[in-house]
Amino acid sequence: MVNVFESLIKLENINMYHTFYIKTMGCQMNEYDSDHLAMLLINNGWIPEDNPEKADLILINTCAVRAKPEQKAASFLGRMLAIKRKNPEIILAVSGCMAQNEGVNFIKRFPQLDLVMGPREIGRFLSHLQQIRTQRKRIIATDLQFPPPRPEPCDGFFEGRITGFVSIMEGCNNFCSYCIVPFVRGREISRPPGDIIAEVQNLISDGVKDITLLGQNVMSYSWENRDFASILREVSQTEGLMRVRFTTSHPKDLSDKVIQCFKDIDNLCHHLHLPFQAGSNAVLKKMKRGYTREQYLELITRLREVQPDIALTSDVMVGFPGESEKDFEMTLDMIRQVQFDNLFSFKYSDRKGTIAYKMNEKIEETEKTRRLKVLQDLQKKITLKKNTLLKGVDIEVLVEGQSKKGRQMTGRSCTNKIVNFTDENCKIGDIVKVKIKECFFNSLRA
Ligand code: 5AD
Ligand code: SF4
Repeated sequence: MVNVFESLIKLENINMYHTFYIKTMGCQMNEYDSDHLAMLLINNGWIPEDNPEKADLILINTCAVRAKPEQKAASFLGRMLAIKRKNPEIILAVSGCMAQNEGVNFIKRFPQLDLVMGPREIGRFLSHLQQIRTQRKRIIATDLQFPPPRPEPCDGFFEGRITGFVSIMEGCNNFCSYCIVPFVRGREISRPPGDIIAEVQNLISDGVKDITLLGQNVMSYSWENRDFASILREVSQTEGLMRVRFTTSHPKDLSDKVIQCFKDIDNLCHHLHLPFQAGSNAVLKKMKRGYTREQYLELITRLREVQPDIALTSDVMVGFPGESEKDFEMTLDMIRQVQFDNLFSFKYSDRKGTIAYKMNEKIEETEKTRRLKVLQDLQKKITLKKNTLLKGVDIEVLVEGQSKKGRQMTGRSCTNKIVNFTDENCKIGDIVKVKIKECFFNSLRA
């Protein structure tokens, strides 16, 4: 732990740069990485600043998984470049998957950038900054060899939060044909169990009650004789941990041992995010997913046998190269059969360097848009129908704070549904039982 006194000593040593602003784009792993970058800075005397115009360091943590988050990052970078033009003394840095992917191209396109840093370089962030400050040189740091070392926690950083993340593994070895992740996050590396447990304990000591174990493929966790099911059981027994979740999972790794955890582990939330991507075997094969629709459906049956109220969510894509109308119908059919609680659905977008990028029979943008709408309309109906079944049911909710519209409290059920409710006596961090009165697409009211 770095105490306040130590921080103040380090604060005296820093000269002109001392406030930082971090913008996080993309996935939960990026949110987690951003917290760690912030802790590194705070441990060394830097002070967080909410307004980028007032910060001495602006860091944009980017995502490259699809074209849309990349466009968002590029447009945000444009705004930050305008700030840098007004004040050339500030340090402007880009981190994350897009930084890894673009590398030197980023510096060529935007010569005002001071640092382009990939996800596995975050442990060296401070030394990169030091070099920029002392030598005013630009740095491209995109080494994928080492796992990102995680910083010493700083006192009370997570105070006020009820939910938190702990990475248990990084990277991906699957090379699905459409996906850039293995190229920008590197090969799979699991973290030592001792580090994971220590991080979980630190979050709990700051008041966090609900922890999500993170990894690009959490279920392929492997450390000496431990597999994913064993680290999950170990973490779940940490004193003070009310709820544990994990994401994201690949169907090929969902073993009976993991399925059994949904029955045996009391504080494991009844929710699984299990991307299926497509409902047609021909498309699944071209995607190199390593399972068939029948195998996926079989997993869903087994999960529901073990835990009948388990909520299921998934990722799905439309318009993969060569996806015929019939293939698309198979995806819709899969959605009807499984009755997911919710879906994250995307239009396929070309990622340079992947196998799918070079495939023929690309689907027109307008057709992808049409398919996405048909799919989303179907899922909306299913989500609403499933939520409506909860009307009149008593549900346990972990209170996370005040609802967006104020006056009400908000929290989540163990099936990951957002519940807004009125209760004058409950405190943030309590688990309360509420009766569901109204059901919407995105939330429930109690
Ligand atoms: N195009 C569209 N969606 C993609 N995803 C990953 N790569 C692509 C791509 N090239 C989606 C997948 C994945 C989610 C994180 O993003 O559905 O599960
Ligand atoms: Fe990408 Fe497939 Fe790895 Fe998921 S499992 S990160 S979709 S390559």
